[in-house]
Amino acid sequence: MTKLTLAKVGVRYDRQVQPAVVDASIAVASGEFVVLTGRSGCGKTTLLNVAAGLVAPTFGSASVDGRPIDGPGADRAVVFQNDALFPWLSARENVGFAQKMRCVEERERHQKSDELLRQVKLEGYGGKAIWELSGGMRQRVGLARALAAEPDFLLMDEPLGALDALTRERMQTLLLDIWSVRSTGVLMVTHGIEEALFLGTRIVVMAPGPGRVVRQIDAGFGRRYAGGEPARSIKADPDFVAARAELADAIFDGEFA
Ligand SMILES: Nc1ncnc2c1ncn2[C@@H]1O[C@H](COP(=O)(O)OP(=O)(O)OP(=O)(O)O)[C@@H](O)[C@H]1O
Ligand SMILES: [Mg+2]
Repeated sequence: MTKLTLAKVGVRYDRQVQPAVVDASIAVASGEFVVLTGRSGCGKTTLLNVAAGLVAPTFGSASVDGRPIDGPGADRAVVFQNDALFPWLSARENVGFAQKMRCVEERERHQKSDELLRQVKLEGYGGKAIWELSGGMRQRVGLARALAAEPDFLLMDEPLGALDALTRERMQTLLLDIWSVRSTGVLMVTHGIEEALFLGTRIVVMAPGPGRVVRQIDAGFGRRYAGGEPARSIKADPDFVAARAELADAIFDGEFA
């Protein structure tokens, strides 16, 4: 088992008066699905970027199994909100890009890419150009590309934020399908209260001014889905409805009282 740990992390960007994040402690172990949520500007992206090695903590530490994170690494794959695919490459070539850089032979690379495209429900789309794909399809190519590295941790910043409501729901179950058959640890940022609760094994609630962690809530709805219960029945469960109200309270904490 591998563990990514942010311990008492504080981040102050250059010329910032108030730190973006103070004293944030979050751990993600293999097989966990940790969701970061909270109001705009509370430091979610900042913390995700610390985990990715794109932002260095000003205070505290970030590590994987005790080894300090000092930059991006193949053990941690990032999926950004806007898919950031290479528009001049096909879907298959996007998925296999990192392997191409590592000189993996073309046939093997394409085989693996096609298998990953199948897992994200894009079988037969390998040869398509990126501009021929819908937004939801592009996000799935981005996900397949991240998975191609076989990362220990999948770090996602609002990966479903740009999608319409129906596609978003389907992508949520796809994420659980993919996560549940792997031991990958997930750290994902979302603004969606229902999404956070449905996906997360733990939900980390942050608040702004300065950005900090205010609650960590354990949840088991995603595991229930992985165990075979339909998404619709989980989301209609009174336990889910009550937990959603509790989470909304934690996020807005009196703001709309
Ligand atoms: N590169 C940067 N330089 C200076 N300040 C920054 C930088 N990136 C973010 N900030 C500031 O840090 C704070 C936290 O920003 P961050 O992007 O982490 O929030 P967020 O929770 O992801 O917000 P959102 O939900 O809107 O995406 C904000 O006050 C923001 O203005
Ligand atoms: Mg953000």
